[in-house]
Amino acid sequence: MIEISVKAGSAHKQRDDAVVLPLLDGRKLTGSGRELQDATGKVLGSFLRKFDNSGDFAVSNTLYDIEGTYTQRVELVGVGDEKKLTLQKLRALSSKTARKLETSGARDVSIYFPELNVKGTSLADRVQAIAEGVWLGLYTFDKYQTKKKENKRALRSLTIMIPSRRYLDEAEAAVATAKAVAAGTNFARDLGNEPGNVCTPEFLGDQAAALKHKKLKVTVMDKKAIEKAGFTALLAVNQGSAKEPRFIVLEYNGGKKGDAPVALVGKGLTFDAGGISIKPGQAMDEMKFDMCGSAAVLGIFKAVAEMNLPVNLLGVIPSTENLLGGAAYKPGDIVTTYKGVTIEVLNTDAEGRIILSDALAYAAEKKPAEIIDFATLTGACVIALGAQATGLMGSSKKLKSGLKTSGDHTHDRVWELPMYEEYQEQIKSKIADIRNIGGREAGTITAACFLSRFVDDIPWAHLDIAGTAWDMKGTDISPVGATGAGVRLVVDYLLNRNG
Ligand code: BES
Ligand code: ZN
Ligand code: ZN
Repeated sequence: MIEISVKAGSAHKQRDDAVVLPLLDGRKLTGSGRELQDATGKVLGSFLRKFDNSGDFAVSNTLYDIEGTYTQRVELVGVGDEKKLTLQKLRALSSKTARKLETSGARDVSIYFPELNVKGTSLADRVQAIAEGVWLGLYTFDKYQTKKKENKRALRSLTIMIPSRRYLDEAEAAVATAKAVAAGTNFARDLGNEPGNVCTPEFLGDQAAALKHKKLKVTVMDKKAIEKAGFTALLAVNQGSAKEPRFIVLEYNGGKKGDAPVALVGKGLTFDAGGISIKPGQAMDEMKFDMCGSAAVLGIFKAVAEMNLPVNLLGVIPSTENLLGGAAYKPGDIVTTYKGVTIEVLNTDAEGRIILSDALAYAAEKKPAEIIDFATLTGACVIALGAQATGLMGSSKKLKSGLKTSGDHTHDRVWELPMYEEYQEQIKSKIADIRNIGGREAGTITAACFLSRFVDDIPWAHLDIAGTAWDMKGTDISPVGATGAGVRLVVDYLLNRNG
């Protein structure tokens, strides 16, 4: 990750390779731009009059060697209508600018975006958004490309310029938060992007165990330990795979001793072929991303540990592949779970809820203050919400409302689906306690109904990230592949939980 720092100072005095100035609609400069214009004998103004760029959003132009400045380049980045700016647009703008500068030859740059007016935001909000945009936008996953283009003059440092030294402390804190959050998100992306032959349950366990912090304890159970503990639902799904399952438990104790933790539970399906109810071939490769729920949990732990947050967290990750070996579980099988609830398996491809049943029951047993689970659980959620929002369901109004607020603030957005009592009818079984599919209708909700049977009365929220966990087109702040969905959302939630 490139270095990001904060500073106050005039644009024409900066000696960096590039100075980035915003350009508003109608070729208008902001305060720092006007100051530079005044200090440079109006050169900038005469450029602007002849300029093709009228300040349209994210259209950017480079002016070289402006007399009266100490920088090689002034980068004018179009912002569009300032009244329409949002924090997410600021992230996108910062990401696009960083991506352009990355190949421009400029190594050290200063950027004057904080002085932009974004309705309802503090300076710290804007500084955090700019830093996040840069760190998230520059993320790449190219470790398997053996012939990389070498960029000898890649971006090295970025200075976020603030209007006054008075704000230095809060701006620096905002950058530190952005750094931890981006590191957590990019870690989750790395795990998601690893291919299924590398990212196995064992690999996930190793990655969890490698998270080191004095307040963090990680326990990774292998198959023997899982058998001993009685996680029978996880073992049932694992039957078709030649690889051992893992059950990962993380305990972070940064809060008061004895305070009930927030439990984070993540689906760690390292490859989902569907099992005996095999999936069609189309895009089946994308089922390597079926462990993105667990990646979100690990990303959150990484960020929280880096920030030394004063909270207690419990993380629970059940991990296996869902394959079709000779011993694979089959449609018609009845699985007795860790909790004792019996499941009639009618489709082996609805495996996520099965392995989560043990993880949720285990988490609930520990009496946490609340449970949040993350899972690429249903194709139906992709149909309902697409890539723009994570499906939100659950039992606690307060928890759900906190998540909605954080979703809007971070743009790691959620949208609630109802969990009316009547939906529970759809998962009734004639031969066991419940069945693992609820029919075509309301598939995302009936999956959540299934999970609800394992959380007791602990306040609970379920995040179906099937549509948001990866993006094969890429977005403004995320290249093609895993997005790290859920990390920014829940870190923000934890930051604001008691305040
Ligand atoms: N991992 C899939 C859900 C999924 C599908 C996520 C596509 C993202 C994109 C899950 O295990 C699954 O296969 N669910 C089934 C459930 C069905 C059989 C009731 C589904 O959604 O088709
Ligand atoms: Zn499946
Ligand atoms: Zn799955």
